[in-house]
Amino acid sequence: AAPGSRSATLGNKTKGKPQKQICQVVLDHFEKQYTTELGHTWTSVRDVLTYPLCWQYAILLNKFSQSSELENTLGVKGYHPAFQRPLPYLPALLKCYIRRTPGRFPAQKHQPGKLKEYYLLNASSLLPVLALEVKDGEDVLDLCAAPGGKSIAILQCAYPGQFHCNEYDDLRSRWLKQTIESFIPYPLINLITFSKLDGRQIGNLKPELYDKVLVDAPCSNDRSWLFSSNIQQATLRLMQRKELPSLQFQLLRSAIKALHPGGSLVYSTCTLSRAENSDVINLILNSCSNVMPVDISEMARAVSQEFTFLGGTQQHELLVLPEKGRAWGPMYVAKLKKM
Ligand SMILES: C[S@@+](CC[C@H](N)C(=O)[O-])C[C@H]1O[C@@H](n2cnc3c(N)ncnc32)[C@H](O)[C@@H]1O
Repeated sequence: AAPGSRSATLGNKTKGKPQKQICQVVLDHFEKQYTTELGHTWTSVRDVLTYPLCWQYAILLNKFSQSSELENTLGVKGYHPAFQRPLPYLPALLKCYIRRTPGRFPAQKHQPGKLKEYYLLNASSLLPVLALEVKDGEDVLDLCAAPGGKSIAILQCAYPGQFHCNEYDDLRSRWLKQTIESFIPYPLINLITFSKLDGRQIGNLKPELYDKVLVDAPCSNDRSWLFSSNIQQATLRLMQRKELPSLQFQLLRSAIKALHPGGSLVYSTCTLSRAENSDVINLILNSCSNVMPVDISEMARAVSQEFTFLGGTQQHELLVLPEKGRAWGPMYVAKLKKM
């Protein structure tokens, strides 16, 4: 094991691939923080996050490359739709399949000139997209878009007027473009504008331009940080973690500027950390007089069969807690409207 790591509880190798190793410094750090923030709930969340053999993967179908054979196969393998009516917003062509048992459906390789039929993801990643409620013709900005899972989900839901996908990191922005090219056909792909800007600048560069903005912010990605590849990487991540709330706040302020009055934004992260979730949203609500919280509790109620939420959150936010058999999340979602 790498220094500072210890073997994950699973021990053995599968198909000759070494198992992921849990990084002890990250686990210790989370243990302290999340015991304080979540109490005994943290114990069961930790058991899921540190045990990849119980992780589940959802399958988002690509409506631009439909295959009834695939849907039949999924049915035979025990998959069922993750989202069903009544939901405040559920486009008929957004099809996502899940099953209760762990494991991953084989991923499709990128083949130039051929659209992929499905995308594997954490089912909770679709909650920010459902909360955004994009309608045909709306101008949409995906502020932090790579690798593109939520961008392609948005395009399963509606045909935006203009769709601006931004990613600051050069390598990840190439990955984003490749994802989009693998899922979205011509001429629809021509509606998409790609940029590699610092999301904090976009509000000033494109003021009051968008109906909807998704801020799927850079965050401490709890699930992946627990498997940091070595102690140096882990220590650096934990040091830089302190800077994240300020970056997230600035991205949100920029997103608000980019919205036209009446437009709305969804903020999401894949961490349990209160400092990066509710605290950032409360700071925005307390410092921007032109922003109001939007109630998303009806959506949360409608999907509560498949997702476990932290109790006691406010109506404009939710936090998905991974649980055995419903190992989705962590995913924090909050919705705001510009007045
Ligand atoms: C959580 S990931 C986004 C995942 C993506 N929305 C998806 O669903 O596939 C956050 C992304 O924000 C990018 N990022 C970091 N700092 C940024 C900034 N200042 N402006 C824009 N994007 C940034 C990161 O490189 C990372 O790709």
